[in-house]
Amino acid sequence: MIHAHITAWFLALILFFVAISLHKSGKVKAFKIVQMILRVLYLLIIATGAGLLFTVYKIDVWYILKAVVGLWVIGIFEMLLGRIANNRKTSVFWIQFVVAWLLVLYLGFVKLPMSFLNP
Ligand code: HEM
Repeated sequence: MIHAHITAWFLALILFFVAISLHKSGKVKAFKIVQMILRVLYLLIIATGAGLLFTVYKIDVWYILKAVVGLWVIGIFEMLLGRIANNRKTSVFWIQFVVAWLLVLYLGFVKLPMSFLNP
């Protein structure tokens, strides 16, 4: 499950930047398709994240925070692509993007116990 979770968000991260570069080169249709694929990936990230939560014996505040920040990252993906598509200002969301990613990686890899290294 942890591998599926990591694969899903890693793929989403790559496709997110692919979508941005497609938009930059004016490929509107391809951008829309990648955006759709990304939405499916969001569901997979949430499903695998929830699956991991179900395996936890006692869910403490760090797990809740991890889930909330994970959802926040997904929200920022969606907001950024929506605003980029409409050529609107994105700076506030890029700041959130960096903060949320640092937090989610810290919580996932450092703070919380499960690891892809010991399945
Ligand atoms: C794009 C969004 C997300 C990112 C980048 C992300 C990232 C990560 C990372 C890096 C790990 C640690 C993997 C490891 O230690 O090998 C992890 C684990 C986990 N994630 Fe996510 N995640 C996201 C969304 C979510 C969501 C939405 C949920 C809940 C619904 C969730 C729940 C969990 C849980 C329960 C774990 C196991 C924590 C542990 O005990 O180490 N994640 N995630």
